[in-house]
Amino acid sequence: MMNLCEELLSRATAQIDAADSAVRLEALRVALLGKQGELTALLKGLKDLPDAERPAVGKAINDARTQIENALSHKKSYFEDAALRERLQSERVDFTIDIPDRPIGSIHPINHTRQRICDFFVSMGFFVADSPEIETEFYNFEALNIPSDHPAREVQDTFFLADGIVLRSQTSSGQIRFMEKYPPPFKMISPGRVYRCDDVDATHSPMFHQLEGLVVDKNITMCDLKGILELFAKHFFGSQTKTRFRPSFFPFTEPSVEVDASCFNCGGKGQAGGVPCRVCKGTGWIEILGAGLVNRRVLQNVGVNPDVYSGFAFGMGLDRITNILHGITDLRVVFENDVRFLKQFR
Ligand code: PHE
Repeated sequence: MMNLCEELLSRATAQIDAADSAVRLEALRVALLGKQGELTALLKGLKDLPDAERPAVGKAINDARTQIENALSHKKSYFEDAALRERLQSERVDFTIDIPDRPIGSIHPINHTRQRICDFFVSMGFFVADSPEIETEFYNFEALNIPSDHPAREVQDTFFLADGIVLRSQTSSGQIRFMEKYPPPFKMISPGRVYRCDDVDATHSPMFHQLEGLVVDKNITMCDLKGILELFAKHFFGSQTKTRFRPSFFPFTEPSVEVDASCFNCGGKGQAGGVPCRVCKGTGWIEILGAGLVNRRVLQNVGVNPDVYSGFAFGMGLDRITNILHGITDLRVVFENDVRFLKQFR
């Protein structure tokens, strides 16, 4: 029996050594160590041996088993390593491979203007507020002191979705929403889409973009408004830029002004290269926004005491400012989103 065991061990070692695949190796394991395996058969034969021989033979069989197991696991990890190497090789990614250029998008010029303007005001401590595009007549008109016989409230001018529900025609509605939530003092801006019943042409669109500004605190005057807008104009149109206020009218501000910036193209001269400047159309000034001191009635409408607080508000057209900055003369191109146009704003 001792001989049988030795013979089995040396044959098994040779077979394991010669095994050329993991499948073959597994078959060998079953044939040697499995329930019906050769070594198992030897072990079963132990009981027929005389008592004196049994311990030595038993030990030999167990040693053989350990050696076979070791050889098997050694060979097994060899096959596993080989398989892994092969996988790594076959699944290798070639980072140097040439692929065709994919088009990369760019920020839309209006969004870019909005981001830049927001950054400017945020740097001065303004809060950026959002407000709904679908509004009630109350927020879009009434609370802003726009009387019911005001022309803006005609169906021809404003999109009515239902009785008393409109698509906001100005971001000024956001002034009311904001003041209902936050008590003064505060500085806020609110950019967004607005809608008016206009036919599309070079200077009109039924949907466009505004940016509202509102500051309420004690002792706010036209000087504060002028100071901030002057900084704004210099930041966007150049450090030489001047601003001027022209008297105007808005129901929600009193007094009201329209604000012009001196033309960055002709330096305010109205002439560029001997011809009338195309940016300011020869006037030397570019209208940039409407503004004023918040009407006392508007403050009252949101429960702010106008004897304690005052404020200024302004509203600018983001599309207009974008067009001025980029020399775009037709509003339609900024909304059509023709890739050939958008590509220029990388
Ligand atoms: N809401 C005004 C408009 O759409 C602009 C504006 C805003 C004027 C705030 C004054 C103050 O024309």
